[in-house]
Amino acid sequence: MQSLHEAVGGEPFFRALVHEFYERVWADEVLRPMYPEHDRAGAEDRLRMFLEQYWGGPGTYSELRGHPRLRMRHFPYAIDPDARDRWLACMRGALDAVDPAPLLRAELEDYFERAATSMLNRNPLIR
Ligand code: HEM
Repeated sequence: MQSLHEAVGGEPFFRALVHEFYERVWADEVLRPMYPEHDRAGAEDRLRMFLEQYWGGPGTYSELRGHPRLRMRHFPYAIDPDARDRWLACMRGALDAVDPAPLLRAELEDYFERAATSMLNRNPLIR
């Protein structure tokens, strides 16, 4: 069966998606201070490689970074519902910009919603 990585057209899709995503992150006053402004290209590479690997593309992320352990890697960042919502808004904006076919978009968006919720690590019950 074709992977989603293949279906969206491979690396160029993920490069564009992640670039659009970070353009929005750098413009968000809550998210921007969490991210390494001095290493924008590195941040783009890490997220892009992870997503490519997750969706059935090359396993470069784990070769370079080891097991993802994403929840653990996110503990240093205060991810409350507001941060989660902002992150998702950036990703939805990026999806709008790159505009994958509707079924692929639905699959990506479902995943991002679940993944972002699983990253909550501060006051998840208080809104
Ligand atoms: C829910 C809100 C989220 C916030 C506020 C957040 C924030 C961050 C920050 C500040 C970093 C460090 C940037 C870097 O140096 O690479 C990071 C890294 C990363 N995030 Fe998130 N993140 C969120 C959700 C997610 C989700 C849903 C995913 C996956 C679908 C994800 C995947 C990653 C990956 C792969 C890295 C790089 C890890 C590494 O190898 O060091 N994040 N995130």
